[in-house]
Amino acid sequence: MTIDVAYAGVNFIDVMARRGDAGYVPAWPYVPGLEVAGTVREVGAGVGDLTAGQRVAAFTPGGGLAEVALTRAVLTVPIPDQIPSLTAAGAPMTFSTAWLLLNQAARLGSGESVLVHSAGGGVGSALAQLVPAMSGGPLIGTVGRPDKVASVRKIGYEAVIARGEGLVEAVRAATGGAGVDVVLDPLGTSMLDVDLAVTAPGGRIVLFGNAGGGRPAPLPALGKLIGGNVAIGGFSISSLRASAPERVAAALRRILDMIANGRLDAAVTKVDSLADVPAVHQLLAGGRGDGKYVARVT
Ligand SMILES: NC(=O)c1ccc[n+]([C@@H]2O[C@H](COP(=O)([O-])OP(=O)(O)OC[C@H]3O[C@@H](n4cnc5c(N)ncnc54)[C@H](OP(=O)(O)O)[C@@H]3O)[C@@H](O)[C@H]2O)c1
Repeated sequence: MTIDVAYAGVNFIDVMARRGDAGYVPAWPYVPGLEVAGTVREVGAGVGDLTAGQRVAAFTPGGGLAEVALTRAVLTVPIPDQIPSLTAAGAPMTFSTAWLLLNQAARLGSGESVLVHSAGGGVGSALAQLVPAMSGGPLIGTVGRPDKVASVRKIGYEAVIARGEGLVEAVRAATGGAGVDVVLDPLGTSMLDVDLAVTAPGGRIVLFGNAGGGRPAPLPALGKLIGGNVAIGGFSISSLRASAPERVAAALRRILDMIANGRLDAAVTKVDSLADVPAVHQLLAGGRGDGKYVARVT
């Protein structure tokens, strides 16, 4: 089906595609853009539940940063009336990812503590909203530079630590020495030794990105996992979008309901036009992004 795009989300994965990281571009030429909000333009044969003119949010397999986007009906969800299209466009890749990370990959339990690396980005900001909404426990974030600490505290992280020397001790201190139950890590394998050192017995480490690019290191020796009583798993919404699209759409539906009911504050920074998107990509590429960016398209 096709969508007349009103707004499109901007993502770090667009940067990885532009950078040429392996696995992010199915074929060249490639137009970036993995999420949109707009109105249904046309549906294909057999699509019964969506009609032209209906306001929708959708995952796109690339091609979202465009006036017309092509996607599958199964990845397209009606937008509740209360939610502006600007807000809805930013929900698929950050909030649905965050929701699936917590619910399905990490299986967050009530009151469990969570450590998030790169806490000030789009996914990190969504996690700051979702962990309390899902009755999670203490929320700790790491950032790449000390000047980000104050702003990440403001979005809801109880402890924010700039990555560097003493990180393990600082995370442990933030949990009263107990360690964390869940680690959400988009930094490839660069922080894995830290993750293992701060994870409490029974904890889950979820790797969900490789922000720095480059080849990841081999996973730790079996003894570290067995001896540490920890699990390491992975998560990719792009793979899940292909293998189990209904699960991805269900997460988005749930998120839009939570926004409509006032349970989540899905604030975004509006980018005025498609012409301004390359500058935002440069901002994200430099690790200088702050929260979620959504571009006005039409
Ligand atoms: N697996 C999935 O399904 C999935 C879905 C969405 C996003 N992701 C991943 O989750 C991460 C966050 O995505 P996002 O959309 O929230 O991105 P974002 O807002 O652009 O945040 C990315 C953050 O990554 C950190 N970073 C670390 N190394 C970097 C480097 N070499 N260049 C630039 N930034 C670097 C920076 O924070 P600090 O310097 O503070 O650490 C930066 O703010 C990305 O790695 C993305 O690929 C994965």
